[in-house]
Parts: sequence; C-alpha cells; structure tokens
Amino acid sequence: MSENIIYCFSGSGHCLSMAKSIARVLGDTDIVMMRSRPEKTDATEAKRVGFVFPCYGGGLPGFVEDYVRDIKIAPDAYKFAVEQYAGYIGCGLHKIDSIVGLDYWDTVSNHSTCIWLMPHVLTFPPTTAKGARSRIEAKAMEVGGAAHIMKRSEKKPPKNTLFELESKGFASAHEKNALRFSVNDSCVGCGTCVKLCPRQNIVLTDGKPVFGTECIGCLSCLQYCPKEAINMGKVTEKRKRFPNPDVTPAELAAKIIHID
Ligand SMILES: Cc1cc2nc3c(=O)[nH]c(=O)nc-3n(C[C@H](O)[C@H](O)[C@H](O)COP(=O)(O)O)c2cc1C
Ligand code: SF4
Ligand code: SF4
Repeated sequence: MSENIIYCFSGSGHCLSMAKSIARVLGDTDIVMMRSRPEKTDATEAKRVGFVFPCYGGGLPGFVEDYVRDIKIAPDAYKFAVEQYAGYIGCGLHKIDSIVGLDYWDTVSNHSTCIWLMPHVLTFPPTTAKGARSRIEAKAMEVGGAAHIMKRSEKKPPKNTLFELESKGFASAHEKNALRFSVNDSCVGCGTCVKLCPRQNIVLTDGKPVFGTECIGCLSCLQYCPKEAINMGKVTEKRKRFPNPDVTPAELAAKIIHID
C-alpha cells in the first residue's frame, strides 16, 4: 500500500503529466486513473489523497464527480487538488471540495485541448510548449512541497453559479459534437484510440474505429492517434494536435501508475 494516492483524470495528458511530477516530489505514490470503471476507490490506508483533473465545460469531466463520491478516505488523511484549465477554472474544485473537504488546492493553465473549439495555443495566460512544461514542473514542486508538509489553503475554492450552469449544459451540447467524429484513410487500425477511450466508446470494425454514443469529449483518441486520422467536424482537419509530450498513450490508458 502506497503512502499517497493521486486520483487523476486526463484527456490529452496534461493532468497526468502534472500528477506524475507531483508524485515524483512526494515519492511512494499510486496514481489511479479515473476511467469509467472504478479501479481503486478504497483509499483509507493513504496518508495523503490528491486529485488532479482538467476543467471541462466549466466543470468536471464526465463521470469524475460520481467517481469521487465513491472514494473512501480515512478521516485524518490530508486531501489536496490541482485543476488544470485553458482560460478559466470553472466550478470543478468547488465540487471536489464539497465532496471530500480539501485541505489544499491550486490551479494552473495549460494549452487548450478542445481543438474543435479553438487552436491549442489559445491559453490564458499565453505560453509555448516549453513554457507549459516549465509551468507544470514549477506548480508540481509547489503543490508536492505543500502536500509533503501538509500545508492548508487559507480560502475555499471559488463557487460560481454561471460555471455550474455551463457545466450542466455542456454534457448535452457535447452529445451533438460527438456525432461529428470521422476517421480518414490514414488510419492504420492500430487500436490506440480504442485502448485510450475512458468510456469504451470506440470499437474496431473491419480494422476501423466506430464511435458509439457514450463520448465525454476528452479527445484522447483524437489527440493521440499516431496518424492524426480522427477528426471532429471539418475544423480539426487543419488544427495542430498537442498531446502532452511527457505522457505516452500506454500511461494514459493505464489503470494505476506507481511512482517510488
Ligand atoms: C471537452 C473539453 C472542455 C474544456 N472546457 C474548458 C473550459 O470550460 N475552460 C477552460 O479553461 N478550459 C477548458 N478545456 C481545456 C482543458 O481544461 C485544458 O486544456 C487542460 O489542460 C486539459 O487537461 P488534460 O490534457 O489532462 O485533459 C476543455 C477541454 C476539453 C477537451
Ligand atoms: S488510433 Fe488512429 S490509426 Fe489507430 S485505429 Fe485509431 S484512428 Fe486508426
Ligand atoms: S470517443 Fe474519444 S473523445 Fe470520446 S470519450 Fe472516447 S476517447 Fe474521449
């Protein structure tokens, strides 16, 4: 049993990169990937329990809220969270805090991964790929250091009714988006997209991916396809992908990653 557990959701790898960096600062950490089937919800033996996740549509990605509700944490465990975003933090931290009661929280911006909406370089504050990497490293040192000494935040994460409304509307708005997936002739049938999908929403039929109706918009499939064969509408055909350079598809699809 590891001393620390970090629960992580990540679509294009930015949050997993952050979780790995925090784990390296803390040592002896299990990073549990929050995929659709809960892998490890008993965290009662952990001294520190962390959450690293992105802002999606002003709130938490897909099933993350339900997943966090299922996690069992010891009453005296230290709880911390980091949210990654492209322009604004939304209400995800507030939701996690209202479920587990956070001792410490922080945020950091990274490239935008919803490339059907905007190019990935549109980030606030702006940055480059190298800058984003240094920003993650610096924030991980800060958060890992704080978690190590069990520092407490002075304030609660912000509650914002507008973002709560946005996140409620996002799931249904995204359903239409998910119908716009297409796969072009560059596809080599490698199955990476199938392994990456946290909703088991993709199956290979005659060597080509076919998408179901359970998509939560994480874009792992589109960002990590080695042939850039997946698109969401016409607009992504011209947009550059930006999977996190520190995270491999195998790591993203893993259930638990242990860092000594
Ligand atoms: C479906 C989707 C919705 C998003 N919504 C927001 C948002 O509401 N606000 C924001 O600032 N960033 C938003 N983003 C950007 C991500 O929060 C940001 O790029 C984050 O670094 C992604 O982390 P990941 O690679 O670990 O998934 C969204 C990204 C996706 C894929
Ligand atoms: S990851 Fe890309 S190349 Fe591989 S099966 Fe999926 S669409 Fe085809
Ligand atoms: S289909 Fe693609 S975007 Fe949708 S949940 Fe699966 S991996 Fe994420």
